[in-house]
Amino acid sequence: MQTDFLVIGSGIAGLTYSIKMAKAFPEKEIIVLTKTTADETNTKYAQGGVAGVWDDENDSFDKHIDDTLIAGDGLCNEHVVEIVVKEGPERIREIIGYGARFDKDETGEYTLGREGGHSENRILHHKDVTGREMERALLKEVKKFPNIRFINYCFVVDIITQHHLGYLVTKSTTDITCYGVYVLNINTNHIEKILAPITVLASGGCGQVYRTTTNPKIATGDGIAMVYRAKGRVENMEFIQFHPTALYESGVSPSFLITEAVRGDGGILRNKNEEAFMERYDARKDLAPRDIVARAIDNEMKITGTEHVYLDCRHMDMEKFIHHFPNIYEKCLSIGIDVSKQMIPVAPAAHYSCGGIKTDEWARTSILNLYACGECASTGLHGANRLASNSLLEAMVFGHRAYLNTVEKINGLKFFEDLESAVPDWNTLGTSEPKEMILITQSLKELQQIMSDYVGIVRNDVRLDRAMKRLDLLFTETEALYKSTKVSPQLCELRNLISVGYLIVKSAEFRKESRGLHYNTDHPNKSNLLQNIIL
Ligand code: FAD
Ligand code: SIN
Repeated sequence: MQTDFLVIGSGIAGLTYSIKMAKAFPEKEIIVLTKTTADETNTKYAQGGVAGVWDDENDSFDKHIDDTLIAGDGLCNEHVVEIVVKEGPERIREIIGYGARFDKDETGEYTLGREGGHSENRILHHKDVTGREMERALLKEVKKFPNIRFINYCFVVDIITQHHLGYLVTKSTTDITCYGVYVLNINTNHIEKILAPITVLASGGCGQVYRTTTNPKIATGDGIAMVYRAKGRVENMEFIQFHPTALYESGVSPSFLITEAVRGDGGILRNKNEEAFMERYDARKDLAPRDIVARAIDNEMKITGTEHVYLDCRHMDMEKFIHHFPNIYEKCLSIGIDVSKQMIPVAPAAHYSCGGIKTDEWARTSILNLYACGECASTGLHGANRLASNSLLEAMVFGHRAYLNTVEKINGLKFFEDLESAVPDWNTLGTSEPKEMILITQSLKELQQIMSDYVGIVRNDVRLDRAMKRLDLLFTETEALYKSTKVSPQLCELRNLISVGYLIVKSAEFRKESRGLHYNTDHPNKSNLLQNIIL
């Protein structure tokens, strides 16, 4: 099968690109692939909101730029930060135009929330379910375009490059080219090839590599692993952001998020002894950037020997709380916590991948004809630590920029007539049906355990070394399984997560300093050398 434009992912990044392409080229087809349903994305679970300079009186581009740079701890690409901050409000206006509703006050002005690391109130939100509202608006807009075709339950296994045509591709090959993808159609259980002159990876994050994460099950870093396998460039994977306040419920995965906006509205973190401990760690207290708050909580949990701390909202105006955070209020009630009377048990959870597929300012990857945008990409915006609520913004800005760049080269694009037969069909020779799913599920558990225990918020050289040795074994076993078994989404996800784990550990080993989200007790200081780790 061939199509004009192939988009992998139906979150905010993939849909932003698809809508713009469909509008600009009504005669062309855009295929959007998703691994489950169209709305099951990280985007849907976003709570706090989308950051943008909206209040011209108090806020400014410079302030938002500064806040982003401070959080990024020296590693942001300043040019990219400026692009995102300055183009962001226009992209927000566009999604409002698609029908996304952000909360307003009685005078009709948007109510702007505050989160950690922001010096002003600049977060547009829809209650505590902003992502759900944005995804709803995007999916509604998509329906206006008959030239956008969704194929759900269609798992992308690998991107197709010269390698599949029999050419040797190494990491120094300068013209690695993407021709499309192999997909496992879950409806038919067949592996098919879909070719396209342009492919866009908008496949989201990789939180599932950790045992405790706010990310839904789909977040298995598939796009990042595929690009690495294809010898494309992946950057700064050691910078995994742990959200400080996921609801602590033993054994429940993924973890339900308690948005940072709750602290923005006055929620206070307390330890087991009910002490408000953040003032001991940072002058910004509960609203310090996430890396600082997450490390402080981790430390308090270790000192007091507990598995969580508490978020105290008892002093807050409950009418306002229920109005702003109805979803959180209901969720807590459903597990027996009345937030007006009881504190909420919270603990850090893997939340966001600041690194990813290396892209330039037009969302181009190191592989020709392949764009990446959204959480799977490393654009340079976040540096060593993402400022809260900057990712929805980044996904829209780079979805748009990928579209602009596609438009620029559209005249030179053509179908790969001769490639249809040259790209081989998927070879299932020598593979058999999987006999024991436990081989996959147990390895996944082991991987998540290794990553959480050795490559979490606080790292050291011995732990990283142990993690790498254990990942190596999992890699060898899983590759053997992959070669001998018919592929399934579960097996592909495990394989991808092992690659992502390897990328995180390897990058962490290379970074001999502590910066932003990467904290290594054997190298507690910042190096004078500013470097991005590219694998
Ligand atoms: P996603 O929205 O994750 O979409 C990924 C898509 O890729 C899905 O359609 C999936 O099916 C598809 N896909 C993946 N792999 C494959 C494959 N192999 N084959 C086929 N399809 C595939 N950010 C903010 O800015 N503000 C917030 O308030 C905020 N809150 C958050 C709260 C939570 C609980 C979480 C988890 C994240 C939050 N974030 C927030 C981060 C933000 O939501 C994400 O970074 C962003 O939504 C990612 O969008 P995306 O389009 O890149 O990917
Ligand atoms: C939150 O609502 O706390 C999450 C915001 C984000 O991840 O940007």
